[in-house]
Amino acid sequence: MEGLSALCTPALVVDLDKVKRNAQRMIERCQKMGVQLRPHMKTHKTLECADIMTAGSRRCIVVSTLAEAFFYAEHGFDDILYAYCLPFDKMERCAALSEKLDLFQVLLDHPDALDQLKKRPLKNGRLWHVWLKLDCGNGRAGVLHSEPGALQLAQAIAGTEGVELTGVYAHCGNTYTCKGLEQIQAVAQETTSFVLDFMEKLRAAGITCKSSIGSTPSCSHPVKDMAKLDEVHPGNYVFYDVQQSIIGSCCLDDVAVRVLSGVIGHCPHRNQLLIDCGWSGISLDGAGKLSTGYAVIEGHPNLKLLSMTQEHGRVEPISGLLDYSKYPLGSLLTLIPYHSCATAMMHPVYHIHSDGHLLGKWTPTRGW
Ligand SMILES: Cc1ncc(COP(=O)(O)O)c(C=O)c1O
Repeated sequence: MEGLSALCTPALVVDLDKVKRNAQRMIERCQKMGVQLRPHMKTHKTLECADIMTAGSRRCIVVSTLAEAFFYAEHGFDDILYAYCLPFDKMERCAALSEKLDLFQVLLDHPDALDQLKKRPLKNGRLWHVWLKLDCGNGRAGVLHSEPGALQLAQAIAGTEGVELTGVYAHCGNTYTCKGLEQIQAVAQETTSFVLDFMEKLRAAGITCKSSIGSTPSCSHPVKDMAKLDEVHPGNYVFYDVQQSIIGSCCLDDVAVRVLSGVIGHCPHRNQLLIDCGWSGISLDGAGKLSTGYAVIEGHPNLKLLSMTQEHGRVEPISGLLDYSKYPLGSLLTLIPYHSCATAMMHPVYHIHSDGHLLGKWTPTRGW
């Protein structure tokens, strides 16, 4: 990483070769299954990475904020799914995108949200394209797949003038509690089966629409039945991170992002180092539960990122005494983040490299 040593730290650096490899593998996996990949942009929120994930098509993406939706729309992207429970304060902005793009899609899990759509018919005979969010065990947003209310809401959406039921969406974030292939695939299978059962109920009620499930663990190790879905929507896979390597989605070598951090202090009275990466450079995600604390410190398996304040990190050895001659002030440590989505969010710019040679910068969009 010598070429990167001139960067001001803390700096988020992205290995372009790994990004391309991770993206290509997901594209090929989905092609093999015959399922449309609709990559999620939330991890990086940049144009350049979106181009890589969509193989330059600039079509068929998922976003988690309207800021992302506008950012991508303004740069020629279309077929955008805003996969977040329709927020009532943002109705007008959703309507503007629906009236501007060929295909802007929203998501909901409550009849009140459908009422909001009814109250704001789109101009020029356009339809609201709506995905119904199902909870298939993740325990976050979504109508529980087994509740009669789920089918009733789907029927209500399909039966509303000016509104089209575009699809059924289930995010299997519960794969994040898995360890290893078997557990990941058990959750992937369960989510797929629940969604396919629901699609069957819809068909029996005379309704057809698309189906989509996904998360990085499930889409990194898909089960056969996922080929019966229309789409999958993973996102983190383009960067991966330490968390994904522990779950079993990838190996540590697949992780495309690092935070470079400078040594700024020696504290021999505590057997600790200080680095310039606090929680504002890497986030507190992971809560320090790794044996190496809040990150993996590349090339230094005996070091632990023990704790952080906003701009300081405390590093100590897992065992023994620190040899300070190995870590002079001004030297760099390379942190592999626990959760790349959270870490990337802390940085206004990402430094892109190939084999340690700086290639340029990517600037993410921010806000909601
Ligand atoms: C609604 C939704 N869809 C898709 C994804 C992508 O999943 P992953 O980050 O595991 O790739 C997320 C991630 O949080 C999500 O919240």
